[in-house]
Amino acid sequence: MLDLHSHILPDVDDGPSTMEESVEMALIAYEDGTRTIVATPHNRDVNERSSISAVISLLYQLNQEIQARSMSLKIILGMENHLEMDTPEQVAQGKALPIDGTHYILIELPFEFYPFYAEEVLFKLQISGLRPIVVHPERNLAIQGNSEILANLVNRGVLTQITAGSISGALGKDYQKTAKELLQQNLVHIIASDCHTSRGVRTPILSPGVTAAAKVVGDEAARKMVEDIPQAILQDKMPDLDLPSITSKRKWWNFRP
Ligand SMILES: [Fe+2]
Repeated sequence: MLDLHSHILPDVDDGPSTMEESVEMALIAYEDGTRTIVATPHNRDVNERSSISAVISLLYQLNQEIQARSMSLKIILGMENHLEMDTPEQVAQGKALPIDGTHYILIELPFEFYPFYAEEVLFKLQISGLRPIVVHPERNLAIQGNSEILANLVNRGVLTQITAGSISGALGKDYQKTAKELLQQNLVHIIASDCHTSRGVRTPILSPGVTAAAKVVGDEAARKMVEDIPQAILQDKMPDLDLPSITSKRKWWNFRP
């Protein structure tokens, strides 16, 4: 499996605080069957509290620790980028990063509301050649009440990633209900761990989420969300995707949630 969203680097954001815990998280992921992890620290934390060069150095150290333990596991560089009005400018300045030099970029919506500028920012990223992946849409309050908001984005070429702990139920019933609904409507392309710790409900374990998703979309479609689709993304190819089963009735230029 490939995990496109993780907070596994130590002392960068709200992930682990020590390299020991990062290594422990890598071991947990490896035992669960993950072979590639994209380390995706929050762009705000990297730019305000650290730097991209410091993150690259931590990534190197973590890969050295993994190799020293003979694990066939690779950690590569990405970033979880908050959706902000100036996100396209942050990309141009190298402050918001796509995944490992590809054209795919993780974008996080606020939890409490759906910003009026979301479509415009995502569209600007698209016309600059990037392909946004909206992370954990099931955690956004507006999308929880109206999945048409997400269908509108998916119909315009935006990809989505749900969190394994959301669909398995580990993160609570509200997230699980929305994650299930989004899966039923073919509005999910990727399952990732969004891990933060080696213990509790935010560990780097994907398989319970894949098993739960398989009950909704079938084994093959759930497997693709942690194998074929993330693999294609890391190769900077266009993944083979199913179309959403619901469409947005409103045009994007006058869309209001
Ligand atoms: Fe995250």
